[in-house]
Amino acid sequence: MYQMAFRVLEILDGAAGPVSGDVITSRLGISRSTVWKQVQLLKEMGYDISASPGEGYLLRKASDRLLPYEVHKRLRTTLIGKQMRYYPSTPSTSGIARDLCIQSDPKDLNGLVLIAEEQTGGVGRLGRVWVSPAGGIWVSIILTPGIAVGRAFMITMAGSIAVARAIRKEYDLGALIKWPNDIQIGDRKVAGILLELSTEGDAIRYCLLGIGVDANIKPDELPHPLPQRITSLSTELGRDVDRAALLARILKEFESRYLLIESGEYETIVLEWKSLSSTLDQRVQITTMRSRFEGEAIDIDEFGALLVRRDSGKVERVIAGDCLHT
Ligand code: BTN
Repeated sequence: MYQMAFRVLEILDGAAGPVSGDVITSRLGISRSTVWKQVQLLKEMGYDISASPGEGYLLRKASDRLLPYEVHKRLRTTLIGKQMRYYPSTPSTSGIARDLCIQSDPKDLNGLVLIAEEQTGGVGRLGRVWVSPAGGIWVSIILTPGIAVGRAFMITMAGSIAVARAIRKEYDLGALIKWPNDIQIGDRKVAGILLELSTEGDAIRYCLLGIGVDANIKPDELPHPLPQRITSLSTELGRDVDRAALLARILKEFESRYLLIESGEYETIVLEWKSLSSTLDQRVQITTMRSRFEGEAIDIDEFGALLVRRDSGKVERVIAGDCLHT
């Protein structure tokens, strides 16, 4: 339904000034009334297009929705995001991704990016609610990496690195990674990463990398659960950001790390993760399903587990749980 609208948009987007209806009809082989209908569709999607009888159609301002067309325009990848789907409102992109992987062969979906403008049932780590109003970046990437299940954490690491690097490059904000996969600016969380796996023996059938970035979100739209403090990019910068440019950058940064993982270069990923970690060498309080303790975060191992030295000297290996910098 929208394909033709985006072909019209491509023509308007590539033009230096107004384009007459006749030019569009002859380039696309459609009638003038079809052109008009496509322009109405584009307007409904948030594009500011003026029409004047003498001159034709003029694209005045792009939509600020996170539409695949806008991301594709800026995308420089070979696999990740070559296919994208957009949902104005959905419970969760993770749920859609899961359904797609059940309905068809996940290998055919490798690199597919699902984008939601808003999520009404967003899910965070440890099954928590992930508040996802319009203005954020809520995406799931379907991946079928040829790596063992035990290495799956590498994908999460690559996701956190990609988001931190993208924020640093686009805005010069000092984003860091708090173990296991929170992206923070100072002591406030701005983004989170969630990995869901489907396995067959020791092999990964598919994994779903969920990325949530609080981009253009006002402070009062964000939850304030203690003890974690939360922020958004627009709050930090005092202005809205170009979400399509940021997402394109995240996907590019992710793809280059994903290709390293596929070729077995795990050490490079771990080293980069460590260089962006705000947790290592910090005093931390760890809460797991079974215990709570304090100590110094001394390292992560090759499986992404955090190594914490208690005051007694005993080193604990933490696979999952909450980590608070004290
Ligand atoms: C975290 O708890 O830090 C991880 C949050 C991950 C949220 C993303 S938003 C896109 C995808 N869909 C979801 O429902 N969750 C993930």
